[in-house]
This record gives sequence, C-alpha cells and structure tokens, in this order.
Amino acid sequence: MDKKIVFITGVSRGIGLEIAKCFLNDGHFVIGTSRSHFNLSEALGSDQCLHMPLDVTDRDQVKSCLEQLKTLEKIPNVLINNAGITKDQLFLRMKDEDWDEVINSNLTSVFNITKLFIKSMVKNRSGKIINISSVAGLMGNPGQVNYSASKAGLGGFTRSLAKEVAARNITVNCIAPGFIETDMTNHFKSDELENILKQIPKNKMGNPQDIANLALFLASSSADYITGQTISVDGGLYMN
Ligand SMILES: NC(=O)c1ccc[n+]([C@@H]2O[C@H](COP(=O)([O-])OP(=O)(O)OC[C@H]3O[C@@H](n4cnc5c(N)ncnc54)[C@H](OP(=O)(O)O)[C@@H]3O)[C@@H](O)[C@H]2O)c1
Repeated sequence: MDKKIVFITGVSRGIGLEIAKCFLNDGHFVIGTSRSHFNLSEALGSDQCLHMPLDVTDRDQVKSCLEQLKTLEKIPNVLINNAGITKDQLFLRMKDEDWDEVINSNLTSVFNITKLFIKSMVKNRSGKIINISSVAGLMGNPGQVNYSASKAGLGGFTRSLAKEVAARNITVNCIAPGFIETDMTNHFKSDELENILKQIPKNKMGNPQDIANLALFLASSSADYITGQTISVDGGLYMN
C-alpha cells in the first residue's frame, strides 16, 4: 500500500477514538465519522486527519461522503466499521423501533459503508476491512436480542465477503470485544459489575487500546493471511 488511509466510523469517543490514535501513530491518514460534530484534529493533536459528520444509517449522507472523499483524493484502503449502539430491553418488552434502530446502526450500516469502498479496493487489489462485532454476538446476552443479532450478523457478513474478495488481496475480519471501558458500559451498578467480573477469567474490564492493538495488526501486512475470522478480545469471557 502507498499512502495509508484509514476510514473509521464512530470516532468521537471510546473504541473508535482509540483506534484513530493508534492508526495515526502508525502513519495513517485518519478519516473519522460520527453523527455529532467532533474536532478530530484537536483530539488527535494532528492535521493528518479529517472528521466527517455522518450518520452511517443514512444512505444519502453515505453517498455524498464518497463524493467528498473523491474530490479530496482520500480514498481509504483500510476500513474499520466501528460505530454501534445498544437499545437493551428484554425481548418481551422490546419495541419494533429498538429492533430496527439497532439492526440499522450496527449491521445495515456496515453494508452501506463497505459498499462505498469495496470497488476501489477491488480495483487496487488491496484492502483491509475490520468490523467491530461483540462477544454478545457469539454467546448471546439477555436483554440484547437486537444487539446480539446485529453483531452475529456481522460474522456472516464478514465470512461471506471474505470469500468473495480474498483473491483480490482484500481481507475481511471481525473483532469481538468483551466488556470494554467506554461510555457504552459505564452504566453498570457495582453489584452488576461484580457479577460481570466474576465471569471474566482475567477478572477485569478491557480498555479501548486492547481493541485498537488488534485492529492495527489486522490492518498490517503481517495479517495478510488472516481473513474471514472473528477474533475475541475479552479477557477469556467467551472461549469456543
Ligand atoms: N464498549 C464495549 O464494551 C463493547 C463491547 C463489545 C462491542 N463493542 C462495540 O464497539 C463499538 C464501539 O463501541 P464503544 O464502546 O466505543 O461505544 P461508544 O463509546 O458509545 O461510541 C460509539 C461511537 O459510534 C458513533 N455512532 C453511533 N451511532 C452512529 C451512527 N448511526 N452513525 C455514525 N456514528 C455513530 C458514536 O458517535 P455519535 O453518537 O456522535 O454518532 C460514537 O462515536 C460498537 O460497535 C460496539 O457495539 C463495544
């Protein structure tokens, strides 16, 4: 790859922001998105980056994002589909809109964004796609039928696309984080947290850096022969 350009969705905090820092330090130009306006240059202390306000569920916005990147001649060769949400509720009480919103944000968004860049990756015979899934998509989690389904869907998406594009020198992999300290997990009460920690052999939460380290490895040429995989980063929570 010549100039390394990475596109990361959901870059305004948590895992996405840490991935951005890690890739910037590795010499990538970083394009990051979130729905909210966010000063990525300030957060990273660098001008080797660009923030685009973008809702990954909105196909019109997604299309116009590609036009902007073409004009700027900044087409990424690494894509990290990280944006995601939860709308937890027991299935009996789960509203239609909670199902739709989570599937759209976590799964359909990955279809929307990957479609944008796959053509140029195929043409250039070079690309790395990394989808941020979840341990919930592997082991299930009560109250997260919508979230678990969306993340399990990413596994199927990843394996099928990996088979389609492997011969074009494009790899597609998933990272399945366990419990990672971010805004998404900061609502646990102390007894809930104690219960969670009991189930994690490492007996602690992970941090965003744990995920960013693996993303950087999967995007590197050292991982050229790894594709179609879902790799857990979860302190041993789920072992299969
Ligand atoms: N934290 C964990 O323990 C954990 C565990 C397993 C998997 N994960 C997965 O890891 C990823 C990152 O999680 P996190 O903990 O860093 O979450 P977070 O702190 O809540 O951050 C989520 C990011 O996604 C963005 N986002 C959400 N919906 C979006 C949309 N429709 N369009 C564009 N951007 C959107 C948010 O920005 P805006 O709100 O400004 O749009 C934010 O930047 C998610 O896919 C999550 O499911 C996290």
